[in-house]
Amino acid sequence: VASQTVTRLFPLPSLDCALKGLYLDEALHRRGVNDRPLVYTNFISSLDGRIAVEDPRTGRSKVPDAIANPRDWRLFQELAAQADVLLVSARYLRELAEGTAQDVLPVSGDVEFGDLHDWRRAQGLAPQPAVVILSKSLDLPLVELCSGMDREVFVAAGRGVDPEAARSVERTGARLLWVGEGAEVQGKALVDTLAARGFRSVYSMAGPGVLQTLLRDRVLDRLYLTHVHRLLGSTAYNTLLEGDRLSPPVDFRPRALYLDPHAGTDFGQVFGVYEAIRP
Ligand SMILES: NC(=O)c1ccc[n+]([C@@H]2O[C@H](COP(=O)([O-])OP(=O)(O)OC[C@H]3O[C@@H](n4cnc5c(N)ncnc54)[C@H](OP(=O)(O)O)[C@@H]3O)[C@@H](O)[C@H]2O)c1
Repeated sequence: VASQTVTRLFPLPSLDCALKGLYLDEALHRRGVNDRPLVYTNFISSLDGRIAVEDPRTGRSKVPDAIANPRDWRLFQELAAQADVLLVSARYLRELAEGTAQDVLPVSGDVEFGDLHDWRRAQGLAPQPAVVILSKSLDLPLVELCSGMDREVFVAAGRGVDPEAARSVERTGARLLWVGEGAEVQGKALVDTLAARGFRSVYSMAGPGVLQTLLRDRVLDRLYLTHVHRLLGSTAYNTLLEGDRLSPPVDFRPRALYLDPHAGTDFGQVFGVYEAIRP
Protein backbone atom coordinates (compact mmCIF):
# COMPACT_ATOMS: atom_id res chain seq x y z
CA VAL A 1 0.00 0.00 0.00
CA ALA A 2 1.46 3.36 -1.06
CA SER A 3 0.72 5.10 2.25
CA GLN A 4 2.88 2.57 4.09
CA THR A 5 5.94 3.39 2.02
CA VAL A 6 8.43 6.20 1.68
CA THR A 7 10.85 6.79 -1.18
CA ARG A 8 14.57 6.61 -0.59
CA LEU A 9 16.12 9.48 -2.53
CA PHE A 10 19.68 8.88 -1.41
CA PRO A 11 21.76 6.82 -1.76
CA LEU A 12 20.81 6.18 -5.35
CA PRO A 13 19.16 4.30 -6.95
CA SER A 14 15.96 5.58 -5.41
CA LEU A 15 13.50 2.95 -4.22
CA ASP A 16 10.30 2.58 -2.25
CA CYS A 17 10.69 1.20 1.28
CA ALA A 18 8.31 0.43 4.12
CA LEU A 19 8.02 3.19 6.72
CA LYS A 20 7.68 0.61 9.48
CA GLY A 21 11.11 -0.78 10.22
CA LEU A 22 12.92 1.97 8.31
CA TYR A 23 15.03 3.10 11.29
CA LEU A 24 14.93 -0.21 13.13
CA ASP A 25 16.95 -1.73 10.31
CA GLU A 26 19.86 0.51 11.30
CA ALA A 27 20.69 -1.81 14.25
CA LEU A 28 22.07 1.10 16.24
CA HIS A 29 22.43 -1.05 19.36
CA ARG A 30 25.14 -3.05 17.59
CA ARG A 31 27.11 -0.14 16.19
CA GLY A 32 28.74 0.98 19.41
CA VAL A 33 32.04 -0.51 20.46
CA ASN A 34 33.26 -1.18 24.00
CA ASP A 35 34.72 2.16 24.92
CA ARG A 36 32.60 4.15 22.48
CA PRO A 37 28.81 3.83 22.43
CA LEU A 38 26.90 5.10 19.41
CA VAL A 39 25.40 8.48 20.36
CA TYR A 40 22.44 9.71 18.33
CA THR A 41 19.62 12.21 18.44
CA ASN A 42 16.58 13.21 16.43
CA PHE A 43 14.51 16.30 15.76
CA ILE A 44 11.38 17.19 13.83
CA SER A 45 11.46 20.65 12.33
CA SER A 46 9.36 22.90 10.13
CA LEU A 47 10.91 24.13 6.87
CA ASP A 48 11.73 27.39 8.66
CA GLY A 49 13.74 25.46 11.25
CA ARG A 50 11.28 25.59 14.15
CA ILE A 51 11.26 22.67 16.57
CA ALA A 52 9.08 24.22 19.28
CA VAL A 53 6.48 26.96 19.66
CA GLU A 54 4.90 28.51 22.70
CA ASP A 55 1.72 26.86 23.89
CA PRO A 56 -0.71 29.76 24.53
CA ARG A 57 -2.40 27.75 27.33
CA THR A 58 0.69 27.05 29.43
CA GLY A 59 3.13 29.67 28.12
CA ARG A 60 5.73 26.89 27.72
CA SER A 61 7.31 25.77 24.51
CA LYS A 62 6.37 22.45 22.95
CA VAL A 63 6.73 20.57 19.67
CA PRO A 64 4.33 22.33 17.26
CA ASP A 65 1.10 20.41 16.69
CA ALA A 66 1.31 21.62 13.09
CA ILE A 67 4.34 19.39 12.43
CA ALA A 68 4.07 16.46 14.89
CA ASN A 69 2.62 13.44 13.10
CA PRO A 70 2.20 9.70 13.61
CA ARG A 71 4.60 8.72 10.84
CA ASP A 72 7.50 10.61 12.40
CA TRP A 73 6.37 9.35 15.83
CA ARG A 74 6.74 5.77 14.62
CA LEU A 75 10.35 6.47 13.63
CA PHE A 76 10.99 8.24 16.96
CA GLN A 77 9.81 5.10 18.77
CA GLU A 78 12.04 2.94 16.55
CA LEU A 79 15.06 5.06 17.47
CA ALA A 80 14.22 4.72 21.17
CA ALA A 81 13.73 0.97 20.78
CA GLN A 82 17.40 0.63 19.80
CA ALA A 83 18.73 2.52 22.82
CA ASP A 84 20.41 1.14 25.91
CA VAL A 85 19.94 4.53 27.49
CA LEU A 86 17.92 7.71 26.81
CA LEU A 87 19.18 11.21 27.59
CA VAL A 88 16.36 13.51 28.70
CA SER A 89 16.33 17.07 29.97
CA ALA A 90 15.20 18.09 33.43
CA ARG A 91 12.49 20.16 31.72
CA TYR A 92 11.02 17.01 30.21
CA LEU A 93 11.06 15.27 33.57
CA ARG A 94 9.28 18.16 35.26
CA GLU A 95 6.60 18.09 32.55
CA LEU A 96 6.30 14.33 32.88
CA ALA A 97 5.64 14.71 36.59
CA GLU A 98 3.02 17.39 35.93
CA GLY A 99 1.40 15.33 33.20
CA THR A 100 2.11 17.97 30.52
CA ALA A 101 4.94 16.17 28.68
CA GLN A 102 4.48 15.21 25.03
CA ASP A 103 4.22 11.54 26.04
CA VAL A 104 5.48 9.05 28.58
CA LEU A 105 9.05 7.89 28.12
CA PRO A 106 9.54 5.63 25.13
CA VAL A 107 9.31 2.81 24.22
CA SER A 108 5.55 3.47 24.21
CA GLY A 109 3.25 0.86 25.69
CA ASP A 110 0.61 1.53 23.00
CA VAL A 111 -0.42 -1.63 21.17
CA GLU A 112 0.79 -0.25 17.86
CA PHE A 113 4.35 -0.36 19.23
CA GLY A 114 4.07 -3.88 20.61
CA ASP A 115 6.40 -5.12 17.85
CA LEU A 116 9.16 -2.87 19.22
CA HIS A 117 8.97 -4.54 22.64
CA ASP A 118 9.13 -7.96 20.96
CA TRP A 119 12.09 -6.73 18.95
CA ARG A 120 13.98 -5.58 22.08
CA ARG A 121 13.37 -8.94 23.71
CA ALA A 122 14.60 -10.81 20.62
CA GLN A 123 17.74 -8.63 20.54
CA GLY A 124 18.49 -9.37 24.19
CA LEU A 125 18.00 -5.73 25.24
CA ALA A 126 16.49 -4.69 28.60
CA PRO A 127 12.69 -4.32 28.46
CA GLN A 128 13.07 -0.52 28.48
CA PRO A 129 16.10 1.72 27.97
CA ALA A 130 17.59 3.26 31.12
CA VAL A 131 17.18 7.01 31.48
CA VAL A 132 19.68 9.74 32.30
CA ILE A 133 18.25 13.13 33.31
CA LEU A 134 20.56 16.09 32.71
CA SER A 135 20.13 18.97 35.14
CA LYS A 136 21.97 21.97 36.53
CA SER A 137 19.24 23.12 38.89
CA LEU A 138 18.54 19.61 40.25
CA ASP A 139 15.00 20.85 40.64
CA LEU A 140 13.60 17.42 39.94
CA PRO A 141 10.34 15.84 41.03
CA LEU A 142 12.08 12.50 41.42
CA VAL A 143 10.33 10.87 44.32
CA GLU A 144 6.97 10.87 42.61
CA LEU A 145 8.44 9.81 39.34
CA CYS A 146 11.02 7.17 40.23
CA SER A 147 8.52 5.09 42.14
CA GLY A 148 6.55 4.59 38.92
CA MET A 149 9.48 4.04 36.56
CA ASP A 150 9.93 0.74 34.79
CA ARG A 151 13.65 1.30 34.22
CA GLU A 152 16.98 2.41 35.75
CA VAL A 153 17.11 6.17 36.46
CA PHE A 154 20.29 8.24 36.68
CA VAL A 155 20.76 11.97 37.15
CA ALA A 156 23.76 13.56 35.42
CA ALA A 157 25.19 16.76 36.88
CA GLY A 158 28.41 18.71 37.22
CA ARG A 159 30.33 18.88 40.50
CA GLY A 160 29.51 22.57 40.78
CA VAL A 161 25.79 22.11 41.49
CA ASP A 162 24.22 23.04 44.81
CA PRO A 163 25.34 20.29 47.27
CA GLU A 164 22.08 20.38 49.22
CA ALA A 165 20.07 19.86 46.02
CA ALA A 166 22.38 16.94 45.17
CA ARG A 167 21.76 15.35 48.58
CA SER A 168 17.99 15.64 48.08
CA VAL A 169 18.28 13.85 44.73
CA GLU A 170 20.32 11.07 46.33
CA ARG A 171 17.77 10.66 49.12
CA THR A 172 15.19 9.70 46.48
CA GLY A 173 17.32 6.70 45.50
CA ALA A 174 18.23 8.06 42.03
CA ARG A 175 21.89 7.58 41.19
CA LEU A 176 23.94 10.67 40.50
CA LEU A 177 26.55 10.63 37.75
CA TRP A 178 29.15 13.33 38.34
CA VAL A 179 30.14 14.26 34.84
CA GLY A 180 31.34 17.86 34.78
CA GLU A 181 33.68 20.17 36.65
CA GLY A 182 31.36 23.19 36.81
CA ALA A 183 27.55 23.06 37.19
CA GLU A 184 27.06 21.74 33.67
CA VAL A 185 27.25 18.20 32.40
CA GLN A 186 30.10 17.72 29.93
CA GLY A 187 29.34 15.57 26.91
CA LYS A 188 32.54 13.54 26.84
CA ALA A 189 32.55 12.80 30.56
CA LEU A 190 28.90 11.70 30.29
CA VAL A 191 29.47 9.39 27.34
CA ASP A 192 32.64 7.92 28.91
CA THR A 193 30.73 7.21 32.13
CA LEU A 194 27.88 5.55 30.25
CA ALA A 195 30.39 3.46 28.26
CA ALA A 196 32.04 2.32 31.50
CA ARG A 197 28.62 1.16 32.72
CA GLY A 198 28.25 -1.00 29.63
CA PHE A 199 25.81 1.13 27.63
CA ARG A 200 26.38 0.77 23.88
CA SER A 201 23.69 2.96 22.32
CA VAL A 202 22.81 6.39 23.72
CA TYR A 203 19.79 8.25 22.36
CA SER A 204 19.33 11.91 23.22
CA MET A 205 15.64 12.79 22.98
CA ALA A 206 16.29 16.20 24.58
CA GLY A 207 16.51 19.61 22.95
CA PRO A 208 19.04 22.30 22.01
CA GLY A 209 20.87 22.46 25.35
CA VAL A 210 21.69 18.77 25.43
CA LEU A 211 22.58 18.79 21.72
CA GLN A 212 24.99 21.65 22.38
CA THR A 213 26.49 19.63 25.27
CA LEU A 214 27.15 16.68 22.95
CA LEU A 215 28.43 18.74 20.03
CA ARG A 216 30.79 20.90 22.10
CA ASP A 217 32.69 17.74 23.03
CA ARG A 218 32.23 16.21 19.56
CA VAL A 219 30.59 13.06 20.91
CA LEU A 220 27.48 12.95 18.73
CA ASP A 221 27.61 10.28 16.00
CA ARG A 222 24.29 10.67 14.22
CA LEU A 223 21.49 13.13 13.67
CA TYR A 224 18.06 11.96 12.48
CA LEU A 225 16.26 15.03 11.22
CA THR A 226 12.71 15.24 9.85
CA HIS A 227 11.71 18.33 7.90
CA VAL A 228 7.95 18.75 7.61
CA HIS A 229 7.11 20.75 4.50
CA ARG A 230 5.42 23.63 6.31
CA LEU A 231 6.45 27.15 7.29
CA LEU A 232 5.33 28.21 10.75
CA GLY A 233 6.76 31.64 11.56
CA SER A 234 6.63 33.13 15.10
CA THR A 235 8.41 35.91 16.98
CA ALA A 236 10.34 33.40 19.06
CA TYR A 237 12.76 31.18 17.21
CA ASN A 238 13.27 27.78 18.83
CA THR A 239 15.57 25.69 16.72
CA LEU A 240 17.57 22.52 17.27
CA LEU A 241 20.81 24.16 18.30
CA GLU A 242 21.33 27.27 20.39
CA GLY A 243 24.08 28.63 22.60
CA ASP A 244 27.67 29.42 21.69
CA ARG A 245 28.75 29.24 18.11
CA LEU A 246 30.52 25.99 17.28
CA SER A 247 33.99 26.78 16.13
CA PRO A 248 34.89 25.01 13.93
CA PRO A 249 31.41 23.92 12.77
CA VAL A 250 30.44 20.28 13.23
CA ASP A 251 30.22 18.58 9.86
CA PHE A 252 27.91 15.76 8.80
CA ARG A 253 27.78 13.38 5.87
CA PRO A 254 24.31 12.27 4.70
CA ARG A 255 23.75 8.53 5.06
CA ALA A 256 20.18 8.48 3.74
CA LEU A 257 17.37 10.76 2.67
CA TYR A 258 13.74 9.67 2.40
CA LEU A 259 10.69 11.42 0.95
CA ASP A 260 7.43 10.70 2.74
CA PRO A 261 4.62 12.32 0.74
CA HIS A 262 1.90 10.93 3.04
CA ALA A 263 2.40 13.01 6.19
CA GLY A 264 -0.28 15.59 6.90
CA THR A 265 -2.91 16.28 4.26
CA ASP A 266 -0.74 16.43 1.17
CA PHE A 267 2.40 18.35 2.10
CA GLY A 268 4.63 15.50 3.31
CA GLN A 269 8.08 15.48 4.90
CA VAL A 270 11.65 14.34 4.34
CA PHE A 271 13.65 12.21 6.76
CA GLY A 272 17.40 12.77 6.75
CA VAL A 273 20.01 10.60 8.44
CA TYR A 274 23.33 12.39 8.96
CA GLU A 275 26.61 10.99 10.24
CA ALA A 276 28.94 13.30 12.14
CA ILE A 277 32.44 13.52 10.77
CA ARG A 278 34.63 13.12 13.83
CA PRO A 279 37.82 15.16 13.82
N1 LIG B 1 10.90 19.12 17.65
C1 LIG B 1 11.72 18.30 18.27
O1 LIG B 1 12.19 17.34 17.68
C2 LIG B 1 12.14 18.56 19.69
C3 LIG B 1 13.07 17.72 20.30
C4 LIG B 1 13.44 17.99 21.62
C5 LIG B 1 12.89 19.08 22.29
N2 LIG B 1 11.99 19.86 21.65
C6 LIG B 1 11.39 21.03 22.32
O2 LIG B 1 12.41 21.95 22.60
C7 LIG B 1 12.13 22.63 23.81
C8 LIG B 1 13.32 22.48 24.76
O3 LIG B 1 13.49 21.09 25.09
P1 LIG B 1 14.43 20.62 26.29
O4 LIG B 1 14.06 21.37 27.50
O5 LIG B 1 14.42 19.15 26.33
O6 LIG B 1 15.81 21.16 25.79
P2 LIG B 1 17.29 21.25 26.36
O7 LIG B 1 17.72 22.62 26.05
O8 LIG B 1 18.09 20.14 25.78
O9 LIG B 1 17.21 21.00 27.93
C9 LIG B 1 17.00 22.03 28.87
C10 LIG B 1 17.22 21.59 30.29
O10 LIG B 1 18.02 20.42 30.43
C11 LIG B 1 19.05 20.60 31.39
N3 LIG B 1 20.35 20.63 30.70
C12 LIG B 1 20.59 20.77 29.37
N4 LIG B 1 21.92 20.70 29.12
C13 LIG B 1 22.52 20.51 30.31
C14 LIG B 1 23.88 20.36 30.71
N5 LIG B 1 24.90 20.41 29.84
N6 LIG B 1 24.14 20.18 32.02
C15 LIG B 1 23.13 20.15 32.93
N7 LIG B 1 21.84 20.29 32.60
C16 LIG B 1 21.53 20.46 31.31
C17 LIG B 1 18.74 21.90 32.12
O11 LIG B 1 17.96 21.53 33.27
P3 LIG B 1 17.79 22.40 34.61
O12 LIG B 1 16.78 23.42 34.26
O13 LIG B 1 17.28 21.47 35.66
O14 LIG B 1 19.10 22.95 34.98
C18 LIG B 1 17.94 22.66 31.08
O15 LIG B 1 17.01 23.54 31.62
C19 LIG B 1 10.85 22.02 24.35
O16 LIG B 1 9.78 22.82 23.99
C20 LIG B 1 10.74 20.70 23.64
O17 LIG B 1 9.41 20.26 23.47
C21 LIG B 1 11.60 19.63 20.37
